[in-house]
Amino acid sequence: MGNQFLGNQNFNISNQTVTAICPSNIALIKYWGKYANQIPANPSISYTLNHCNTQTSIEFLANEPFSVQTFLAGNEEVKFAEKIEKYFKNIEQYLPWILKGKYIIKTENTFPHSSGIASSASGFGAIASCLMELDKTFSSEIRDASFEIKKASFLARLGSGSACRSLYNGLVVWGKTDEVEGSSDLFAVKYPDSEIHPIFKNFNDWVLLIHEGQKTVSSTVGHGLMNTNPYAERRFQEARENFVPLKQILKTGDLQNFIKLVEHEALTLHAMMMMSEPAFILMKTGTLEVINKLWKFREETGHPLFFTLDAGANVHLLFPENVSSETIKNFIETELLQHTQKGGVVKDVMRF
Ligand code: PMV
Repeated sequence: MGNQFLGNQNFNISNQTVTAICPSNIALIKYWGKYANQIPANPSISYTLNHCNTQTSIEFLANEPFSVQTFLAGNEEVKFAEKIEKYFKNIEQYLPWILKGKYIIKTENTFPHSSGIASSASGFGAIASCLMELDKTFSSEIRDASFEIKKASFLARLGSGSACRSLYNGLVVWGKTDEVEGSSDLFAVKYPDSEIHPIFKNFNDWVLLIHEGQKTVSSTVGHGLMNTNPYAERRFQEARENFVPLKQILKTGDLQNFIKLVEHEALTLHAMMMMSEPAFILMKTGTLEVINKLWKFREETGHPLFFTLDAGANVHLLFPENVSSETIKNFIETELLQHTQKGGVVKDVMRF
């Protein structure tokens, strides 16, 4: 699968150091459940974030025995190195030079370490960009920029599914859907900016760090549990169907229905976890307190503050930057921040 991305056997390797920065993303229609080779069970769409990102440098030492050493914020991470070694072996057919050297990989996140903000999307996005940079230097082929980014997205996906969406700004779709031209299960594509109402282009995402530290169930395990979840097929179908109203919502600037759809998607993701066998719950008390307070605030004031969740306890607070945003920001600071473990909030915006 992905023959168009098979690597050229003509290459000329040398010692190189390359760097890349890749932002994180937050899904609106969620990817939860996959088939073999990282094929998503349903299409998903995300916003790319602006401040939350990973910076990575890769030092490649040509013709040394294959090995990988990784450092996260200056500290050696042996477990991460093992994961990357496995990943590199897995993508050799797409980058035939990849096992012909030694790697020293240094990576830093702008968001706090173990904040519960997933670093795998931005992390694998940055590594895939670095690999494409090396590939450009080693192979003599002339390729256009759109192929480069598509292949980077394809490679990032093989590291962590949601990472493939981090290679583009704006709204990004991964997974084949008739609603988005050019969409694919193999890589992500940019949702056309011209089909997005201006209200969705100036949007805040404040991430409340409800619980800092390791999650109890990894997303790999969570995806796997969808294989035996009796509600899985219905869920996959619903995600596919949600693209139809979403397209219209994005075009017309229908904020009320956007809020409804996005919150429903977040709650469905967590409902799937609760209906897995064995069941698990990643939300914490603080998550629920925030959701209930936010709903009450919205009902009383009519201000467009809403939420989404990823596979964890943290709450992504979403709101457009407009006349009500000052009131919303005040409400978050005075009423919602108290439900975080350590007062942690990452104030991000969508990157367009
Ligand atoms: O890319 P993974 O395997 O870490 O899965 C990410 C899953 C969610 O963040 C919950 C949803 C999504 O679409 O990003």
